[in-house]
Amino acid sequence: MSNGVKETFHQLVFGDSRDLSEIPPESVDLVVTSPPYPMIQMWDELFGRLNPEVAATLRGQDGSAAFELMHAELEKVWGHLWRVLKAGGWVCVNIGDATRRIGKNFQLYSNHSRITLCLLRQGFQSLPVILWRKQTNAPTKFLGSGMLPAGAYVTLEHEYILIFRKGEKRPFVTPPQIANRRGSALFWEERNAWYSDVWDFKGIRQSLGQPVSRARSAAFPFELAYRLVNMYSVRNDRVLDPFLGTGTTMFAAMAAGRDSIGVELEPGFAEVIEGQLARLPQLANERIAERLEGHAVFMAAYEARKGASPHRNRHYGFPVVTSQETDLILEVLRDITRESDGRYRVSYDRLELPG
Ligand SMILES: C[S@@+](CC[C@H](N)C(=O)[O-])C[C@H]1O[C@@H](n2cnc3c(N)ncnc32)[C@H](O)[C@@H]1O
Repeated sequence: MSNGVKETFHQLVFGDSRDLSEIPPESVDLVVTSPPYPMIQMWDELFGRLNPEVAATLRGQDGSAAFELMHAELEKVWGHLWRVLKAGGWVCVNIGDATRRIGKNFQLYSNHSRITLCLLRQGFQSLPVILWRKQTNAPTKFLGSGMLPAGAYVTLEHEYILIFRKGEKRPFVTPPQIANRRGSALFWEERNAWYSDVWDFKGIRQSLGQPVSRARSAAFPFELAYRLVNMYSVRNDRVLDPFLGTGTTMFAAMAAGRDSIGVELEPGFAEVIEGQLARLPQLANERIAERLEGHAVFMAAYEARKGASPHRNRHYGFPVVTSQETDLILEVLRDITRESDGRYRVSYDRLELPG
């Protein structure tokens, strides 16, 4: 806070997240990230740069060895997470498996199980995962001999969001901690949709209208990061994305009133990120307006069915379903200031409703 105005702080680092030693121990509350996907062709060149042996094994048509070498590079990043996270902190990893023919061999490369194993070995608790369903209607989606059993393979139409926690549940003990957690509450109807284990973003606005196409940047939707940040952290927490790409996690943290740090190997993304930052206040505030509107529509239907709710939000006076939503506060993003060295300061106003 400065002059009573809430602020959050964000740091964008162009560098290699295999070395996160600059990030102090136990300084991060939540990691939201999506690494390059091993054995998906668009990332071969990058993995080849991280370890030239990858390219050699691919040329030698040894898929299993290439898969292991690629994951060995990712493990150098995962290896820092335990140290930088606070006790009770969360890790959310968006990852897809790969199917690929190498020589005569067509097979599944199970990235999600490989990463799960790695984090379990470090001591993380694995918690129920979310399937992000990415339906494709491409006519070529069926592989193999389609109508004739038994030679066809099912199509991969989902990705994973793997969820891990460092140890036991995070305690909220002091009155300010408890108040901040209550202020960070979700609406009941949001909780019901967001804590489902299948997400499908059909019909939900997904991006900032990225100038680089999602296919080229492999960006995940803004909504994906926004939900995870709101579900697994509280306001003013610090969120890390060690594979920041086009900056989506940082934007979600800004929109949700959290601090963030993002690390990205390719300096070429700087311009894309800067361009999107200019549009972020509008997007973040539209998302808040959407949440409010969604809540009003939901409550009208809910109260028509069940009668008036006994609970009202203390700040805004509108009805809510549970007592856990009575202290929920929404903040409007006012301004993003660029400081030196990839640092950004974001200021907010508390949302005021007319009347
Ligand atoms: C799947 S993309 C992440 C996309 C991101 N979630 C977004 O919404 O734009 C993976 C990113 O990790 C970056 N990357 C790969 N290896 C890295 C490393 N060792 N250090 C930092 N960034 C790395 C890639 O350049 C790429 O931008």
